[in-house]
Amino acid sequence: MIKKAVLPAAGLGTRFLPATKASPKEMLPIVDKPMIQYAVEEAESCGIREFVIITGKNKRSIEDHFDSSVALEENLKQAGKETLLDEINRHRHLAFAYIRQGRPLGLGHAIECAKPFVQNEPFVVSLSDDIIDPDDTLLADMIEIFNTYQSPVVALEEVPESEVHKYGIIKGIHVKSDLYKIESLIEKPAREESPSNLAVIGRYILTPDIFDILEEMPPGRAGEYQLTDALNGLLAKRDIYGLIYRGARYDAGDKFGFLQATINLALKRPDFSDQLKEYIVSTAEKLR
Ligand code: UTP
Repeated sequence: MIKKAVLPAAGLGTRFLPATKASPKEMLPIVDKPMIQYAVEEAESCGIREFVIITGKNKRSIEDHFDSSVALEENLKQAGKETLLDEINRHRHLAFAYIRQGRPLGLGHAIECAKPFVQNEPFVVSLSDDIIDPDDTLLADMIEIFNTYQSPVVALEEVPESEVHKYGIIKGIHVKSDLYKIESLIEKPAREESPSNLAVIGRYILTPDIFDILEEMPPGRAGEYQLTDALNGLLAKRDIYGLIYRGARYDAGDKFGFLQATINLALKRPDFSDQLKEYIVSTAEKLR
């Protein structure tokens, strides 16, 4: 049983400046929910109830968001706004812990910070700026693969060759349908040295032996402790699988990806979709 999820949220969000100068990228709203809430609800739908969020400077609002807010609750109660009250209380049954990453030394280092919370259990890592279509079952499918093989699983996406330099890319052996057994990983390769077009995206099921590797590993590319390097280290000890995701994913840490997420997730909302469709069609006509 996987019970815990680690949500690294201590990055600087430089691709989204100036919005992220003093506010966390993970709190930017997609329609009306901060992006980190999508990641929490996705994991919750897989039975996860315990979350550790890796935070850093200027990230206090993440803690406030998942905490109770007595004055606001009182106000909504008195105004008879029960639906909104339920909405802001919907995470009450979940447990949140926060660990500060003193300096943003990379994703590998952020995950290493979660060791005291995770201890000796397998766990999910979700990068909340990678938004997975909330109607898809990627994480549940990955957990099922973990349960079958008792091995770490990473989510993969087929990306155009022109984009491999933005991702960790795998070399792997096809197992069945969308499942690969990973042979090696390379972080942000140049197009000509990329072993495939299968890119690692922001969902992982990891086992606690990754911490031993993270602790001993020197910094890698760009002086950061890269998760890709730790996964290569782990491959020397055990199998790691990759599952190709074919649904919609939005890189909402990027400004254009954020706009796409906003439009597509709003189009799925019954309270907005008709109005938004009309607006998009009329705007497109004006642009012609
Ligand atoms: P990103 O590279 O997408 O986030 O890391 P970033 O560094 O904040 O953004 P840019 O590239 O400067 O725009 C993926 C996730 O890992 C977290 C980030 O908060 C993000 O959720 N992260 C990254 C950490 O928690 N610590 C780090 O040292 C680096």
